[in-house]
Amino acid sequence: MSKADLSLFTLFPATREQVLISRRRTFAQWSGGTPLEKYLARDAFLEQFDHSANDNLIIWVLAPRDDPKTLDFACSCETYRRKVVVVSSEDGAPKLREAIGYGIASVYTPPAKRQHGYASHMLNLLHWVLADRNILSVDKFPAEWGNPPSPAHNTGDGILSVLYSDVGPVFYSQRGPSLDRSFTGWVAQGSIMTSFQLNTTKDIAPAEESDHEWKWMSVEDNATFFEHESERMKEDALQTSPEIGLLFTFLPKNGIALFNIQRTVCFSDDLSPSMPSQIWGVQRTDDSNSPFATWTYDIRVPPFALVVTRIRATKATFPNLYAKILEAARKKEVEKIEIWNLSKELEGVAAELGGITASREEHIPAVKWYGPESHDKVTWLFNEKFAWC
Ligand SMILES: CC(C)(COP(=O)(O)OP(=O)(O)OC[C@H]1O[C@@H](n2cnc3c(N)ncnc32)[C@H](O)[C@@H]1OP(=O)(O)O)[C@@H](O)C(=O)NCCC(=O)NCCS
Repeated sequence: MSKADLSLFTLFPATREQVLISRRRTFAQWSGGTPLEKYLARDAFLEQFDHSANDNLIIWVLAPRDDPKTLDFACSCETYRRKVVVVSSEDGAPKLREAIGYGIASVYTPPAKRQHGYASHMLNLLHWVLADRNILSVDKFPAEWGNPPSPAHNTGDGILSVLYSDVGPVFYSQRGPSLDRSFTGWVAQGSIMTSFQLNTTKDIAPAEESDHEWKWMSVEDNATFFEHESERMKEDALQTSPEIGLLFTFLPKNGIALFNIQRTVCFSDDLSPSMPSQIWGVQRTDDSNSPFATWTYDIRVPPFALVVTRIRATKATFPNLYAKILEAARKKEVEKIEIWNLSKELEGVAAELGGITASREEHIPAVKWYGPESHDKVTWLFNEKFAWC
């Protein structure tokens, strides 16, 4: 298939009409059997929350330079602006700073426009609107691509961007900010998942603890809890200070983790929204460092799953915490429980309880670091489901 003359195209923030066309297009790929009205209602519903509001969400289109508002644009994607915490080591002491990172989602080219290089070009250009150009290690925009795109309001200040690839690890790694392939695109990192199949997993009785020590968490509980948990994660990040290179993590506060709950919203035929569960986590209430797990449900397309968004446990506390997660999963009648990047020390305990830890083929996390450090020196800490977009 011949490639288009890509220098004639550039990246624009979508107009409202283009946003709606983009969503109608992606319906074919991601509706999972939901009728169009409900699929569109969900996207409109999600726009009100912190994760997307105030221009945190921008939908980008690749369109002809001379017709930026066309409804026949080549392809589109979404970006979400969020805070990121970076820990580096300076003179042997760990140093923490806050910066801006972006999550990229819904990269989509309609079937009739595929294989012309459009998505690749959109991704190449995306670095130039997301990255802080003062730190972008490539200093020159390739002349072959014409003039550089302009950042939108609330973009152009990123230290990094991440995405979750559903097309393997290679495609995105080759979409860098330059024609020089030594400048990489998004590099896959941390796609390990522990899963428990509920039809082959035996229930376990929580040992030596009565039920009143545990509290089921509502959506509201999650919201307040993640404020506190974000502070603890910063402290943990400092304790995990890197011997070489850098660590970064997103934080679950500011609506980041809640997005995973809110997007499970269901709509009745008159398009009234409702949540599919009252329970979104469990915590032991003994003290502020108690174990907990928060989760979302993947119940659009079978096999249905309870997916843990964030977990805190030790080898000793994991079995009882897992028993509570299993109890919630059984109540919801899902087929499996998934936990992303469970810590190495917990993998063995999970295996004893029937968990299988392996590389995930879907939603492969990948990072583009815009600073001068090479990607093998950049580690994504707490690379768990809560940060997914
Ligand atoms: C993936 C997608 C965005 C590519 O769009 P496009 O405009 O055709 O992309 P380009 O022409 O720039 O590049 C095509 C490349 O994508 C690769 N690609 C497309 N689908 C792929 C898949 N499922 N797995 C791996 N690679 C894939 C092609 O092999 C081709 O690679 P090549 O250049 O080495 O031959 C498009 O196929 C699409 O919208 N697919 C459905 C939605 C989707 O899966 N989006 C990605 C979510 S992470």
